Amino acid sequence: MAASNKRALINAAAKARLSAVAPYSKFKVGAALLTKNGEIITGINVESASYGLTCCAERVALFNALTHRKQNFIAVAVVARASGGPMPCGACRQLLAEYAPNAKVWVADSRSLQKIKEFSVRDLLPAAFLDVPGDGSGETASLR
Ligand code: THU
Repeated sequence: MAASNKRALINAAAKARLSAVAPYSKFKVGAALLTKNGEIITGINVESASYGLTCCAERVALFNALTHRKQNFIAVAVVARASGGPMPCGACRQLLAEYAPNAKVWVADSRSLQKIKEFSVRDLLPAAFLDVPGDGSGETASLR
């Protein structure tokens, strides 16, 4: 993976983060997905007064990408003001395992964007739930 790709994706997540809608937690998160074709799709966290309805930046990015028929994600970058970078929550790991199973996960603290930690979706959610028993297709829950 070219280092410039990594920096560009982290920068896109950092830029998106500035639009985060986080009036309750004040914790602004930006995410950016990179497709095999080199396209970048971003997302931000959006919070609700009914706190449980909040959606993380990673999932907003995924839903945004899927809405625009983008797929084949090779990486996702996540940026927030968090020491060492923000780690995706369990719910986001599940959605990433389903729709971006081969992606690298790059995280960075918004105060030091050049320090990028790398994980993989597979490492972050081993033995993921991917098959709905009895749905008859026998296929994994990817983009059918
Ligand atoms: N959040 C994200 O957007 N992504 C993460 O990886 C962790 C948490 C958001 C959800 C909520 O708006 C705020 O951060 C505090 O939990």
